[in-house]
Amino acid sequence: MIYTFLSPREAQEWMIEQRELFVKQFNVSVVIDVLRATSTVITALSNGAKSIIPVSTVEQALDLKHRHTEYIIAGERGGVKIEGFQLGNSPTEYTEAVVRDKTIVLTTSNGTNAIIHASNLAERVLIASFLNLTTVVHELDGYDSSTNIIIVCAGNNGEISYEDTQVAGAIISKLIKGRVHYLSDSSKIAMKLWDALKKPDFSGEHAKKLSQLGFDKDLELCQKVDYMPILAELRDGKIIKVE
Ligand code: MLT
Repeated sequence: MIYTFLSPREAQEWMIEQRELFVKQFNVSVVIDVLRATSTVITALSNGAKSIIPVSTVEQALDLKHRHTEYIIAGERGGVKIEGFQLGNSPTEYTEAVVRDKTIVLTTSNGTNAIIHASNLAERVLIASFLNLTTVVHELDGYDSSTNIIIVCAGNNGEISYEDTQVAGAIISKLIKGRVHYLSDSSKIAMKLWDALKKPDFSGEHAKKLSQLGFDKDLELCQKVDYMPILAELRDGKIIKVE
């Protein structure tokens, strides 16, 4: 089964409904915040960062920095770098010179929370973006069609994100080629969107906002399909590159 939460609100409602069965019901989850948190994570790991620790709040990030002064604290609110933090959430900032061998604590408005939610839903949490699209598909392809896969889109402040839905659709479309998977309605919607577009279309609300904020270079990078073919997974609270 491939189930898709197009927004975190759906994930939260589902978890409330399933309260009595509160166990990790999915074998594997795939988290998408293509603009920009999961693209940032993939860029950082691809450029040699040791790990990324996703946290929900600014306070949690500051607390970790206090206890581990060597960590880099990074993140955004309203799209812009948090005051006093070392990095924002622009993947273009995460160059090799800046991140090699570093542990980065990241807090973003939607993406890092989606990753944390997913860890309550599934045994494994994979990080997806256009940058590592086919690598994620290959990993999922290793499972048989009875596997419960959940795709969690971070969305845009509780709303569905046009761009996240495209990545979800691209994964599903590539994955089901020649195979029989049960698809939830949200999965079908995402897949049909991607099959109609066939390439990234960054014209949604958050893309427009990022452009207004001067992040056009991020938009360019985040739509490069398979540009950074790495597998990234959350393990013991840290996202690492899986070799
Ligand atoms: C988020 O987590 O909401 C996003 O990654 C926001 C952003 O574009 O920085």
